[in-house]
Amino acid sequence: MTRDLDALLNELDLDTKTRLLAGAAVWSLPAVPGIGLGAVVFSDGPVGVRGEHWSAEDPSVTLPSPTALAATWDPALARRVGGLLALEARRKGVHVVLAPTVNLHRSPLGGRHFECYSEDPLLTGLIGAGFVIGVQEGGVGVTVKHFVANDSETERFTVDVHVSERALRELYLAPFETIVRQARPWGVMAAYNSVNGRTMTEHDALVNGVLRREWGFDGVVVSDWLAARDTIGAAKGGLDIAMPGPNTVYGERLAEAVRAGQVSPRRVDDMVRRVLLLADRTHAFTDQKPPKQSEVDGEALAQEVAQRSFVLLRNKKTVLPLKSPKSVVLIGALAAEPKILGGGSATVFPDHVVSPLDGLRAALPHGTELRYTVGADPRTTLPPATDNFRLRAMVHDAGGSELATFALREGKIDWIGDLPRGLDLATLESVDIAGTFTPAVSGRHTFGLTGLGHLTLTVDRQTLFDGPSTPSGDLFAAIMKVREHRREIELEAGRTVDVRLTYRVPEDLRAFAQGSFAWLVFGLGHQAPGPDPDAAMKEAVRLAGLSEVAVVVVGTTAEVESEGFDRASLRLPGRQDELVAKVAAANPNTVVVLNAGAPVELPWREDVAAILLTWFPGQSGGAALANVLFGHEEPGGRLPTTWPATLARSPVTNVQPHEGVLEYDEDVFIGYRAAQPDAAYHFGHGLGYTTWSYDDLAVAPTPEGGAAVRVRLRNTGDRAGREVVQVYLSPVPPDAERPARWLAGFATVEAGPGEEVTALVHVEPRAVETWRAGAWRHNGGEYVFEASHSSTEPRRGLTATLGKTC
Ligand code: BGC
Repeated sequence: MTRDLDALLNELDLDTKTRLLAGAAVWSLPAVPGIGLGAVVFSDGPVGVRGEHWSAEDPSVTLPSPTALAATWDPALARRVGGLLALEARRKGVHVVLAPTVNLHRSPLGGRHFECYSEDPLLTGLIGAGFVIGVQEGGVGVTVKHFVANDSETERFTVDVHVSERALRELYLAPFETIVRQARPWGVMAAYNSVNGRTMTEHDALVNGVLRREWGFDGVVVSDWLAARDTIGAAKGGLDIAMPGPNTVYGERLAEAVRAGQVSPRRVDDMVRRVLLLADRTHAFTDQKPPKQSEVDGEALAQEVAQRSFVLLRNKKTVLPLKSPKSVVLIGALAAEPKILGGGSATVFPDHVVSPLDGLRAALPHGTELRYTVGADPRTTLPPATDNFRLRAMVHDAGGSELATFALREGKIDWIGDLPRGLDLATLESVDIAGTFTPAVSGRHTFGLTGLGHLTLTVDRQTLFDGPSTPSGDLFAAIMKVREHRREIELEAGRTVDVRLTYRVPEDLRAFAQGSFAWLVFGLGHQAPGPDPDAAMKEAVRLAGLSEVAVVVVGTTAEVESEGFDRASLRLPGRQDELVAKVAAANPNTVVVLNAGAPVELPWREDVAAILLTWFPGQSGGAALANVLFGHEEPGGRLPTTWPATLARSPVTNVQPHEGVLEYDEDVFIGYRAAQPDAAYHFGHGLGYTTWSYDDLAVAPTPEGGAAVRVRLRNTGDRAGREVVQVYLSPVPPDAERPARWLAGFATVEAGPGEEVTALVHVEPRAVETWRAGAWRHNGGEYVFEASHSSTEPRRGLTATLGKTC
């Protein structure tokens, strides 16, 4: 039975209506018991569903980064991921997942690169559509985000992106359009930034015009958190819901604007009707039961996606898969403590993590000896204090009275959004992480302090730090870009000492919260005495020389890839390049495992035997890695984005606005569209463990102006495998206004050794359309169709003529 939304609407007075368009709290809309409506709850994805609490006490299945999901080139797998997230959402009382992120990899410097799928709009759109279908089949909503042109982070709240209509249509709007048309999403999130002079929460032309009228989007438009600025502008610009609450531009302020005749009651009714529809679709009415969904093994799916996403960039002398070596040395800080996900609002807390070291230990073939050494540690913050610490958190008000105490598993407080136990930022003055520490070894112990505020650290009754740690410049960037103060103290093994870190909330963070969005994050890190960096490096080289195979895990850190700021460099942080170069010189069988969500420079790439890109691989990454290294699974991924040899050779490096404006002056020429002959690894590249011959290609033009492509191929290797068959088009003759070639479609196929298989690839008419003078134009004529292993490895080609005949 469909609910009569108009009848419900008639039961609401103006104040209730406008209340329903504003967050009641950070993650939820108000309940309206009079019409049987419960609170609609939102929560961040896309790698897991965090729930209303931003804390490790409420863990979530943690999947590989979105770049990894895109590297599978498999919308059906994205759909299964969506299904799992729907289950997770239900488990946590969430109705709408704030995902997928379908902004493009315009520049490798983009801070949230790891959270977006690809530089290609078609791949982004199809993976995004699969994801959305999967979530919504589970009766849970999405907000496809961030609409639109939020492709970098610098000045993200205010930047005005200047982009041509053509680039907007052909690149940046394209994934949203594909998803709206194919998956009918129930929500879209309006971005912080402006596009061509108008902020996206007030962009009538793009929201009401393109999204709603042109594409037929019938869901809600939700503001990014704190993005809505103006009551009348937002209401007229098509924004339905202003988040987070309770202080927003809607609610009472919208009711006043209606009473003053500045916003029409009909407009408000339309907005409320869409919110009621969302509530109905996501089963937020109290008489609704969510659909039955079969259980999914989250751990197994996280591992499967990881395996399928790993991209084998290089495999000289087929060193991989490993063939029962006698000895393996595993090297790198990230091998023991991997980075499993990117930073920022996409953060979730896994229940447990399988590190590469855990994974390899568990899967070690009989007769293989495994050694581990750190080599180089790129992290600029110490891991939170845990081993041999007994810690509690104590919360005080300005008068020093204790408001609450909490047991802590580790020396870290992450209270984002709502504060726990009804605590209020207005009355809370300080939080202590305090307890005891019993060192296991004697020597100089290092303590690390992070957090924006006044910090005081005492250890063994000595004050080691007492001072402000206040941000300068953009507060949000400062929040995201964690900085650490370190202090050392000599301690004795077995002698228990008192430890206390006191954090005082600064006034600018209270103001930032606007009475609703708390950001109370600080931590106590610890490192026991260990070898100095030179000695650690030497030890790695020594063990590499003694072992048959050296596996070096290198990658980025929280200070490199996160929301709120862009990257400044593509270099691996710390001394990791030096580590790889030295280990490779000591051992010809050096396998480099990359633990990064986005491109990094690999200056030693020709000197190592193999490079396996594992992205931010989620909670089961270590198990997936062992399976792939030992050959139980094939690394199935293909690059969803070009990896430039150096930052300077990347076609787009400007992410820094000038006087508030960021010009997309490269127009439609981003990524492989800009032709990068000297890239380190090209779009679509990935080796796998078997080989394929492409035996036949047939192209049948369709009357609509697209084509049906059939590719016959054979697995010519000696093990089963999966191939991503990519179809690229080039216009004949070449057209300087268009890229030399572009992806027009793809399909994944599987075959056993010696087996033949046919890939069917559907090429939409849109593949040959361009946006000219305010409309799509179908560019009929001759095209070279190439069935390819990657964007630079065509295997079969033929010329066909496309035209619209209907
Ligand atoms: C991010 C969004 C996110 C929201 C809520 C914003 O800062 O840009 O992607 O969904 O916060 O956490």
